[in-house]
Amino acid sequence: MRDQLGREIDYMRISLTDRCNLRCGYCMPRCGVPSVPHEMILRFDEIIRLVNIFCSMGVKNVKITGGEPLVRKNASALIGEMKSISGIEKVTMTTNGILLSENLEALAEAGLDGINISLDTLNRNKYLKITGSDGLDTVLKAIDRCRAFPQIKLKINTVTMADYNRDEICALADFAADCGASIRFIEMMPIGLGAGFDGYSQDEIIAALEEAYGPAKIINEKVGSGPAQYFEFEGYRGRVGFISPMSHKFCQSCNRIRLTSEGLLKPCLGSNEGIDLRKPLREGLTDEKLADIIKQGIYRKPAGHCFPATNSLMSKIGG
Ligand code: 5AD
Ligand code: SF4
Repeated sequence: MRDQLGREIDYMRISLTDRCNLRCGYCMPRCGVPSVPHEMILRFDEIIRLVNIFCSMGVKNVKITGGEPLVRKNASALIGEMKSISGIEKVTMTTNGILLSENLEALAEAGLDGINISLDTLNRNKYLKITGSDGLDTVLKAIDRCRAFPQIKLKINTVTMADYNRDEICALADFAADCGASIRFIEMMPIGLGAGFDGYSQDEIIAALEEAYGPAKIINEKVGSGPAQYFEFEGYRGRVGFISPMSHKFCQSCNRIRLTSEGLLKPCLGSNEGIDLRKPLREGLTDEKLADIIKQGIYRKPAGHCFPATNSLMSKIGG
């Protein structure tokens, strides 16, 4: 369906949990987040019911997010169910990769179409510093295991931080190319704890890549279903994506909505607004009535973000 500004909404991000097994400094407080009582989290059957309704309104692609989605037991079963909904074309997942190796087979069997792995550094000490965990090797092993599942499209997502990974841009780009993955550099958003970090911009990263690989060429045709803008570089085997909400605001063409693990429909990442779907769902409203609430929420999707406008933690919204 279209919102009040005519934007076609066909993509939704669903957070399975706001818990995470890492503590990335820009996302999660080191002491963690207060745990949400079990009954406040949407059950899988509730999520599937909502996805059916969203799908009937035009949602075709679903991204499973967290916190860390794989800390929720049986995420692959949920993905399998989503894949069997006619009208859902792609189900993909974003993960920090820590629990990926042991889940990969089940995810592939469920029909998962793509995995975005968050990786901000290739240096073990820096990884520990950013995430609070000595898990780099585990993630690199999981990425390596993905080679056995070429049907799952692999992407590496790197949040750029002036103090941490400015010097690793080319190393990360080379690493992605070696893994047969595409890399996307994400500008730090001043959401929650992200506000305390200095990012650096798309233009600065392009300058660094041009120095190593030669001139950049923008790819004009649309790649993927998201806001990333892709570039090729003369001496680089592959494409480099940029998600640059700060320097290249893309709200005008935003096609997405979000559902939090507690059942809030969030029409925009950069806004505090959320429409509770859990209560009406549990009060026994019909699909038609639920669809009405959802339609109104989507219709009123804000024109765009005005950071730093939200007080939510990123781990609650799922990126
Ligand atoms: N700015 C940009 N990206 C962020 N992520 C988490 N917090 C922020 C932020 N403040 C990223 C994670 C992950 C994705 C789901 O969101 O690193 O790649
Ligand atoms: Fe966990 Fe992802 Fe947040 Fe890091 S960015 S703490 S991996 S949810």
